[in-house]
Amino acid sequence: MSNTITVDLGERSYPIIIGSGLLSGGFDLSEYVRGGDCLVVSNDTVAPLYLDKLLPNLEGRSVDSIALTDGEAYKSLDTMQLVLDKLVAMRANRDTTIVALGGGVVGDIAGFAAACYMRGVNFVQVPTTLLAQVDSSVGGKTGVNHPQGKNLIGAFHQPQAVLIDTDTLDTLPDRELSAGLAEVVKYGAICDAGFFAWLEDNIAELRARNPVALAHAIRRSCECKAEVVAEDEREAGRRAILNFGHTFGHAIEHCQGYGEWLHGEAVAAGMVMAAQLSNLPDVDVERLRALIAAAGLPIEPPAISSEDWLAAMGMDKKVQGKQLRFVLLHDIGDSFVSAEYDAARLDELLGAAA
Ligand code: NAD
Ligand code: GLY
Repeated sequence: MSNTITVDLGERSYPIIIGSGLLSGGFDLSEYVRGGDCLVVSNDTVAPLYLDKLLPNLEGRSVDSIALTDGEAYKSLDTMQLVLDKLVAMRANRDTTIVALGGGVVGDIAGFAAACYMRGVNFVQVPTTLLAQVDSSVGGKTGVNHPQGKNLIGAFHQPQAVLIDTDTLDTLPDRELSAGLAEVVKYGAICDAGFFAWLEDNIAELRARNPVALAHAIRRSCECKAEVVAEDEREAGRRAILNFGHTFGHAIEHCQGYGEWLHGEAVAAGMVMAAQLSNLPDVDVERLRALIAAAGLPIEPPAISSEDWLAAMGMDKKVQGKQLRFVLLHDIGDSFVSAEYDAARLDELLGAAA
């Protein structure tokens, strides 16, 4: 049983196929694998679990693979170079397809390599973390970190398809599942109050990995993301709402050192800070804090000095001129991007987190 959502981008439209049992040949990917050969990019945790299960989905294609070292600390130009070296060594050409098998780190690196190799080759996302299934595999943002800032180097490059086998979540550690729930909560907070309320009612089921609840959360998250991306593919405006909590979150990741806090954990604490910076009734800030805590995520940031916060947030991609911009909430389910925030309140929040 699978469900398909379309990311509607004209000639660059593509399907997100969601279901159980899609690996091990449960879904034929050949339609999306241009040419005869492909390179599967994975890592040393995911490849032993799922590479063999992916091969039957690519039957009839010549498949090469590379397993990168696992970890956010390896989301770098040096690691991407290894993928490019592999493509050159296998004499890949413009008809080669890159298949990303793993979480957001693998997907972002593989997608960026696909954007760059020979000025762009096709790629397919096979996300295996909840976070990648609901967020990073959809929408075409690819890239790597720079020592001075998160995701500073990258390109927009849409995949040909996203294949989500929800069974891969069976092997995902609890902490990673919670990190993925941060991005799920994000969609409720920014664009769907009804979904937010559903999450409040079902958070325990999600953490218990109830497959029906997880499938619903993944589908609704992908629908929200597909709708926003279709409206604003290159983040000229509305797409920035998908960065709710990320200005603070990316600063946390950068200041802590990549890999210390998981991306989803940093975003979780960042969403609470963004809600506190919004002109939102206390009761709604409390609802968000309670849901994030129930998801097993941090609601307070780590200790960071105000100078470090501001230096890290100054590298945020939403900065215009030298002006910080934040994603704020009018209401739960109703978000906007603004350079007009309460500066004294920001100082207070950063001071409290020093
Ligand atoms: P990740 O890729 O590091 O994966 C988390 C961990 O889970 C890793 O150790 C990985 O090897 C392991 N893993 C993956 N699938 C598994 C499975 N099925 N079973 C067992 N272990 C498994 O982290 P992530 O949370 O998936 O992604 C975070 C990254 O995504 C960050 O770099 C973030 O910046 C990026 N991101 C990108 C976008 C985008 O739009 N491109 C959006 C959100 C996040
Ligand atoms: N995760 C933010 C975006 O895709 O725009």
